[in-house]
Amino acid sequence: MIKPLAIPTRINARRRKQLMRMAGDEAILVLPAAKEVVRSRDTHYPYRQDSDFWYLTGFAEPDAVLVLVPGRKHGETLLFCRERDPEREAWDGPRQGPEGAVEAFGFDDAYPIGDLDDILPGLLEGRTRVYYHFGRDQEFDLKLIGWVNRVRAQVRLGAEPPHEFLELGHLLDEMRLFKDRDELRLMQRAADITVLAHQSAMRAVRAGMREYELQAEIERVFRQHDAEAAYGSIVGAGSNACVLHYRANNAPINEGDLVLVDAGAEYRGYAADITRTFPVSGRFSKEQRALHDLVDAAQLAAREQALPGVPYEAGHNAAVETLTEGLLRLGLLKGKLEKNIVDGHYRRFYRHKTGHWLGLDVHDVGEYRIDGESRLLEPGMVFTIEPGLYIAPDDTSVDAKWRGIGIRIEDDVVITKVGHDVLTRGLARSAEEIETFMAQAG
Ligand code: GLY
Ligand code: MN
Ligand code: MN
Repeated sequence: MIKPLAIPTRINARRRKQLMRMAGDEAILVLPAAKEVVRSRDTHYPYRQDSDFWYLTGFAEPDAVLVLVPGRKHGETLLFCRERDPEREAWDGPRQGPEGAVEAFGFDDAYPIGDLDDILPGLLEGRTRVYYHFGRDQEFDLKLIGWVNRVRAQVRLGAEPPHEFLELGHLLDEMRLFKDRDELRLMQRAADITVLAHQSAMRAVRAGMREYELQAEIERVFRQHDAEAAYGSIVGAGSNACVLHYRANNAPINEGDLVLVDAGAEYRGYAADITRTFPVSGRFSKEQRALHDLVDAAQLAAREQALPGVPYEAGHNAAVETLTEGLLRLGLLKGKLEKNIVDGHYRRFYRHKTGHWLGLDVHDVGEYRIDGESRLLEPGMVFTIEPGLYIAPDDTSVDAKWRGIGIRIEDDVVITKVGHDVLTRGLARSAEEIETFMAQAG
């Protein structure tokens, strides 16, 4: 068994300190835990903690609220959580309870969640700024407004209600965008597990299988390594690969098909996100190979832009240029390169962007543009590079031999001081590497 990894709770405490320093002593920050969501009558979806809450606490239970009150003498970091309850714990498993939470997670104080209503107005009083994610959870928005109103009602008695309401994401998203060493260790683990899962899928694929059988193999490997799917795994055989968010995963896999697998593990909350497109037979056809080589070249062009100081957008632009050049060369587009790029003709075959930030959320937080300009890459930023080409099966404007081919190649990179590391480097990527791997796999 591989050694389990975790973020030490002192790191969560350090993040809370840093966030409070950025917010300043007149602020108060309020973060509710994720809610449990009903899947069917009295059964719930598997619980997943809110990414921000997880980042700042490492506390996995629902029905909890983190309140940060920078500079407060009687304690700055407060948790409201469920009380111990032997009857409920017999059904649902152990709870920390307020006492356990203080001890194990390093909060200054913790209270039963039922006391929130009584305590929060007092904490808001005298603070000028409230940082909170407005508009995410209407029920909690209304509660917060209610608590503020309770302070407002006391103004004639000298109470000072907060008067600035700020988006918590302004501070927290920027923190989360830059991954520290502990986070990168977890992200590398998520990437490693995902590499194993994709390798297993390449070994297992056979004509006659259904897409969900490959999905099962991939997710079996995730679970085998204490991870789970970070998002709905996409397994698209043949022209299903052209459906960008294909979810059905129930079609037969036929001889001669390519299979597009976009699947990533989530480990301790951190996502990996890999796509590979491989031939069921182990050998690409001539047309499949031509398009795969082109997407591979576009990925390389984008990777070459993954350097500190380079605008984030440069990677997408490089991929678009390479793809457009190749589409012209293969006769899928006509005319001049420049005009095709400016007019966006490539979008018929490539309608998405070349990547996104990656972290606790698969499409992670963080601005892509600052003051109207693409932001520059900096060490610690993690993102995907995922160009693709998708030739619809009913696109009669192109030669029939291209129709129904869909290809995406997606890797995860982290910007370093001098360049980048590819977290997902262990997995065959080029057509040649894939064919060699599948031949060895037998
Ligand atoms: N798997 C989602 C994405 O590639 O963005
Ligand atoms: Mn992605
Ligand atoms: Mn993906």
